[in-house]
Amino acid sequence: MKENLGMPAFKTVRGMRDFLPKEAKMMKYVEGKVRKIAELYGYKEIITPVVESHELLAAKAGEEVRLRMYTFKDLGGRMIALRPEFTPSVARFVATTLRNEPRPFRLFCVGSLYRYDEPQQGRYREFWQSNFELMGSSKPEADAEIIMLTNSLMEAVGLNNCVFKVGHVGVLRGILSQEKVDEKTENEVMQLMDKKQYDDALKLVKGAGVSGKCVATLGKLVELKGGRVFEIIEKMKKYVKSYEMAVDAVENLHEILKLVLESGCEIDMTVDAGFSRGLEYYTGMIFEVYVPELDIALGGGGRYDRLIELFGGEPTPAVGIAHGIDRIMMAMQRQKTLLKTGKENRVMVIPVKSELKGEALKISRMLRDADIPVEVEVMGRKVTKALEDADRRKIRYAIIVGEKELNEGAVVIRNLMKREQSTVKIEKIIEKLESNS
Ligand code: HAM
Repeated sequence: MKENLGMPAFKTVRGMRDFLPKEAKMMKYVEGKVRKIAELYGYKEIITPVVESHELLAAKAGEEVRLRMYTFKDLGGRMIALRPEFTPSVARFVATTLRNEPRPFRLFCVGSLYRYDEPQQGRYREFWQSNFELMGSSKPEADAEIIMLTNSLMEAVGLNNCVFKVGHVGVLRGILSQEKVDEKTENEVMQLMDKKQYDDALKLVKGAGVSGKCVATLGKLVELKGGRVFEIIEKMKKYVKSYEMAVDAVENLHEILKLVLESGCEIDMTVDAGFSRGLEYYTGMIFEVYVPELDIALGGGGRYDRLIELFGGEPTPAVGIAHGIDRIMMAMQRQKTLLKTGKENRVMVIPVKSELKGEALKISRMLRDADIPVEVEVMGRKVTKALEDADRRKIRYAIIVGEKELNEGAVVIRNLMKREQSTVKIEKIIEKLESNS
């Protein structure tokens, strides 16, 4: 063992990960698809800080996320936190910088987020999202766009059998507010519903002094879910008919789903009448995306019409979605999705002896100028050793720069896959590599 100058053997901090080149490549591949979808749907990227004021991030995060924020005082005594999500930052940006700009805004962000979650499969303390927000429209076509966009991204990364679980917080909240349940209890009920602790949620509702009809209605709603979406919607309408706001919410959900299907988008949706999400800012349709191989959501979002106003902006209805990039990658691995990247035509240039290093570097420059990725042997190894290494790393071509060939303005090109080699004039190297022979 080498001495390590008294330092401990460092590991990543619990819940944090290094991404190996293969994983990093996959992440950038997904990010590339995100950018493509953003372009196709007209979303512009903004880059917001990783650190924001704790008050901003905590305002409507909901208990679950709020308690898991990395919160600390900076040296100036400010209470700050690492962002656990993008939505408050985008809402802040719209409430301030874009305050007087014409609506709608279509904005997206990609980056890392931080939550002190218990590390497990698909749940990390540092994770990545692509986040899309459509701000300024209260119309169902805006909600439909966010669902369609998410479906497009799932298709673009090659995921199959995605299921969209859809609901509407206006149904449960509409009933609770008509029953005069105070906001704090209402939020607690929604949190319990999010964790599928329906019995506890119903107990809490009963304790808040609601009518027997309310308890019965909620009891029926939490049981109501399924893939025949319009049948479920009709049942929801029947169950909530004496709660005006809840009726409006079901109507709104109906319209959104109708628009998504009218668009011709091939999408598998289930409606879940008792569906709730942990974040507190939602006011309308909510949804999450799943694949059969994983029981955790690949993405989640919904409508939040009052957050921008809460941050001092103009009243601006909004709807958005965050896709969990780590979980999308996990799903791709489980489904053995192939990355459709360009062909890898990697080349290794090997000088036969030390005096030819300059020539090797010169050839590598020539190839890079022609957009061909090249590595140069930098370990001072003999040709056979360098070839073994190139072979092990699945490099396709080795260009061997030797004195004899060089005197005739040529090099040896070895195809390591086919185990063939030939002498090629320097000016013909690119042609030879591109002919893939
Ligand atoms: P969220 O449901 O909290 O929503 O997160 C969205 C997605 O981020 C999740 O579905 C999951 O894929 C991923 N995610 C969350 N926590 C973790 C974790 N600890 N490890 C790995 N992945 C995780 C939001 O963040 C909202 N801001 C979405 C939104 C945008 N609503 C409106 N606009």
